[in-house]
Amino acid sequence: MARLVWAVVTYLFFTLVSRAAAATTWPSSVDELEDIMYLNTGYRARGFAAPVTPCSFSSEGAGRIAAAEFIRTAFHDMATGNTFLGTGGLDASIIFELGGNQGDNIGPAFPSTLTKLAPFFSSRSSMADIIALGLYAAVRSCSGPAVPFKSGRIDATEAGPVGVPLPQNSLFTFQNQFARVGFNATEMIQVVACGHTLGGVHASNFPQIVPPGSAPDDVVHFDTTTKFDEKIASEFVSGQTKDPLTVGPAKSVGRDSDYRVFSSDGNVTISAMANPTTYTTTCKALLQRMIEVVPSGVPLTDPIVPYEIKPTALQLTLLSGGSKLQFAGEIRVRTTSRPASQIASVDIIYKDRNGASSCGSCKIPTAVKGTAAGFDDSFAFYGFTALLASDTSISSFIVLVTLTSGAKTIYGNGPSGFPLQDQIMLQSPQSCLASNVLTVVAAVRSTSSSGASLDLTLKVPRTGIIPPALQAQSVAMTKGAKVGPYDLYSAKYTLDASQTKNTKFDVSLTGGSVRVADSFKDVGGLGGACVPL
Ligand SMILES: *[C@@H]1O[C@H](CO)[C@@H](O)[C@H](O)[C@H]1NC(C)=O
Ligand SMILES: *[C@@H]1O[C@H](CO)[C@@H](O)[C@H](O)[C@H]1NC(C)=O
Repeated sequence: MARLVWAVVTYLFFTLVSRAAAATTWPSSVDELEDIMYLNTGYRARGFAAPVTPCSFSSEGAGRIAAAEFIRTAFHDMATGNTFLGTGGLDASIIFELGGNQGDNIGPAFPSTLTKLAPFFSSRSSMADIIALGLYAAVRSCSGPAVPFKSGRIDATEAGPVGVPLPQNSLFTFQNQFARVGFNATEMIQVVACGHTLGGVHASNFPQIVPPGSAPDDVVHFDTTTKFDEKIASEFVSGQTKDPLTVGPAKSVGRDSDYRVFSSDGNVTISAMANPTTYTTTCKALLQRMIEVVPSGVPLTDPIVPYEIKPTALQLTLLSGGSKLQFAGEIRVRTTSRPASQIASVDIIYKDRNGASSCGSCKIPTAVKGTAAGFDDSFAFYGFTALLASDTSISSFIVLVTLTSGAKTIYGNGPSGFPLQDQIMLQSPQSCLASNVLTVVAAVRSTSSSGASLDLTLKVPRTGIIPPALQAQSVAMTKGAKVGPYDLYSAKYTLDASQTKNTKFDVSLTGGSVRVADSFKDVGGLGGACVPL
């Protein structure tokens, strides 16, 4: 019996370990969000965390703290969910709920946050995922834990019900509201303590709690530190708290909601949360649960972890005359535990179109292009440009990292290498964006019996709603000249002025059961004049 138990324990242990270490296979649905999550600063920085860095920062002026507002936005979006019915939760329905008619989302924190998050919304990053990722960035920027972040949330198409916990609610109402989103009475206390470690109450939004003119910048903070820490709990327990939702004017008008919540179990839970380690561990787990309240049937991915090796901006381009393809791009290497200074070289070793090595050594050298950093990780990018014979081309590659010590590591991306299709490719030099008119040229292998399509994802502005709508638009491409083993296809599309930046597009083969495409190109990457091939 003991042996059996031990075997089960061992099995579980190794399953968990290998699962935690399991690398994402490239390409993956999380690739765009992974970049947004980890490339905070440096080369190719996405700048997602900039609005909440440092922790005390706000671009909105004195008294505001963007990190607190990011966390609050995630909470308010989630808080009207219903885990009994399997509806709502973190679904970005808050974008439709800022009209002031609901009373749930008072104050400028919500529009400011959504304005900062909206530029990251795309066909590969839902607004709901971006709101959840905003919580990760805000907490981590304030020295809190790295809350695990899964992707896959689906955006609502209309406002959700009302029902965010508000300061005037009774304890009974609070307990029901938290139970509705899956938190029991203990967890309610914990979630409130995790959320109220940053920020405070503004007189302009809640004059009965903070009378105008009564505090510097008309705001009273929940605790004495601008840091994701246990002070909200320890100051309450020691009787030192200035939290305007526990003491002061709120008391006489029944809006001392933090007091009602924190003292609801005789201070047992809030006392435990006064311990820094307990606070961090509890908040990491509960905030993860909070951002994972989603409608039933919405599958989330595993938590996103950074790639060790990630191909970036790969592009095949047919060159004039048609006998050669240019293969260009970058390899992003994670340098968190193996510093870039220890890396002597990064090489690509590729296979030709038929999976063979007709290219000889098939080795492409790279050179450092820049470095980047996230909260907990660092990266170096190694760039390359190579010429390939267009009749043998490429189908996949592996990456060889050689250290200054001579040690070599091969990154194979699973058994099949990093895949690359050469059936259809964007011809960037032949494509252009000239005064709103987008011209896109693609090269399609002549052996293909398919046609080609230009597939745009247009951002369409919406009145009164901060993020634009995404609208798919496909245009059939017209077959043109044959160049080497490829045929050129082209299409034109007139964009609205607002769409000449940040519009993504694919070129894809039409017909066929599996979609083959050269994807997620940005019109911003095209020149102003198309160059004939
Ligand atoms: C809430 O759930 C936690 C975790 O299951 C449990 O430890 C705690 O006792 C529960 N609290 C209440 C009031 O049921
Ligand atoms: C809980 O803590 C608050 C704030 O320190 C205090 O006012 C209250 O009396 C405490 N309640 C209990 C039951 O100890």
